Amino acid sequence: LNYAAARLALLTQRERDRFARQRPKSAALFAQAQLSMPGGVPMGWMSAWAGPFPPFVASAGDARVVDVDGHTYADFALSEGAALAGHASPALRDALAAAGERGLAQMLPTEDALWVAEELARRFGLPAWHFALSATDANRFALRLARQLTGRTDVVLFHGYYHGTLDEAPGDYEPGFATAAETSTHVRVIDFNDLDGLEAALAGDDVACVMCEPALTNVGIVQPDPGFHVALRSMTRRAGALLIVDESHTFAAGPGGGTRTFDLEPDMLTIGKAIGGGAPAAAHGFSAELAAEIERRELIYSPGVGGTLAGSAFTIAAMRATLEHVLNVDGFARAHAQATLLTDALRCVVADFGSDWRVAQLGCRVNYAFAAAPPRNQRDAYQGMDAVLSHYLRLFELNRGVLLTPFLGNTALISPVTRTDDIATCAAVLRDALGELLGA
Ligand SMILES: Cc1ncc(COP(=O)(O)O)c(C=O)c1O
Repeated sequence: LNYAAARLALLTQRERDRFARQRPKSAALFAQAQLSMPGGVPMGWMSAWAGPFPPFVASAGDARVVDVDGHTYADFALSEGAALAGHASPALRDALAAAGERGLAQMLPTEDALWVAEELARRFGLPAWHFALSATDANRFALRLARQLTGRTDVVLFHGYYHGTLDEAPGDYEPGFATAAETSTHVRVIDFNDLDGLEAALAGDDVACVMCEPALTNVGIVQPDPGFHVALRSMTRRAGALLIVDESHTFAAGPGGGTRTFDLEPDMLTIGKAIGGGAPAAAHGFSAELAAEIERRELIYSPGVGGTLAGSAFTIAAMRATLEHVLNVDGFARAHAQATLLTDALRCVVADFGSDWRVAQLGCRVNYAFAAAPPRNQRDAYQGMDAVLSHYLRLFELNRGVLLTPFLGNTALISPVTRTDDIATCAAVLRDALGELLGA
């Protein structure tokens, strides 16, 4: 897109001023918060929003958020996917209220746990499940178990990955973010869709597992090449390495996530975020062979796996309510139809400006990038990113009641309760933002 950098800077400053002017209550809370929380936020990522401070939330319901200054936002960020089911669904509210009455945590199983494990088995094809509190937890447990089961040390990941705040691999999704830890001897990071690189990474007998998303989602949407997953599966089997699939974002593809969409056969599967409807909850599943091996080798009560609140009555109740009543077959059908509406609307905006941007959809995830060719790996994906332009777009959107996830790239998430008029607003606001920038 051909825009003048000076005009972009001018408009960005105008939007920052407007943002601050219209949010005196958030500004005051943010100033006060400096005294008790580093950066004025309870968790660092909350400082990543495009404004000079984040809007403080008064309430959220369905796919909308209201801030303390009275602004209502159509929420296409949905807590980076943790609120994919929408906010405060009646089913979740009832389930959490009932759990509150019965007691939240006893470190004993509840009958609901069976329902959730059996439902996950039906959806993803892996027969055995354990639970965790976050996708990060589930991934850490999966890596530990993979190392214990294989007696090997190394982990293969794909550039552009993010699997949570893992010590040995904190993430590789923003230019310059990768840290020295990732080049540690036990982590091998290769390009997505690169079978030669995979062959080389699997050489020797040190690789415990490959951990991957079915499609990369933290650098826009990078689809697997045809045949990539079939080759990945047969090569990991041949190398004696386990295949761990992280569905925390690709769950957006449907009730059985990317695993069903791409017909995958992982040895282990991890899923967090959306599965708890916003409550801290995650799960990790095992093939029949691995489940038997874990029992035979008494790894169930394994060092470094589990936690007092994992699988608690509260988190299990949240998962059951979300899977049974919201992110079920009908819920995904509604969300996908709404996501297609947004995809089409964004394509119209892009076409109107004659730019060769790409709009891609993976179930309820919609992404636009500033390059026409579909990316095959993280490097390609970076070609379609413009952090300065995205920052302006996010600010412009915030000021007009639209929330998109603040991280690099342009991703909108759609829930079963996302409204059609909000989708129209999202596309119209992008059109206005570009119109002002390009003088159209
Ligand atoms: C694919 C993937 N896995 C795991 C995680 C970690 O999730 P959490 O921060 O909820 O532990 C993320 C977070 O963005 C993710 O994108």
